[in-house]
Amino acid sequence: MAETVDISIRPSGPYLVRGPVTLHDGQGNLLDLGGKDTIALCRCGASTTKPFCDGTHSKIGFLAANEAARESG
Ligand code: FES
Repeated sequence: MAETVDISIRPSGPYLVRGPVTLHDGQGNLLDLGGKDTIALCRCGASTTKPFCDGTHSKIGFLAANEAARESG
C-alpha cells in the first residue's frame, strides 16, 4: 500500500511536499533529496537552488497571484 504524498501551498512561499517522492530534473536525472521526507519547491522563481526553495521569496517580497489580487482589492 502506497503512502500518501501531501503537497501544501505556503502563503506566498514554496510548495511543501511531504511523503515518499522522487524528483527528476528536466533531463530526467534523479535529484538527490538527501533522505528528506519533506522538501520545499520554489514557487517564486527566484531561488538560487531551483527547484528547491532557498528562502529568497521572503527577501524579494514575493506575493502569490491570488494573494496579490486580494491585497489590491
Ligand atoms: S518560493 Fe522560496 S525561494 Fe522561491
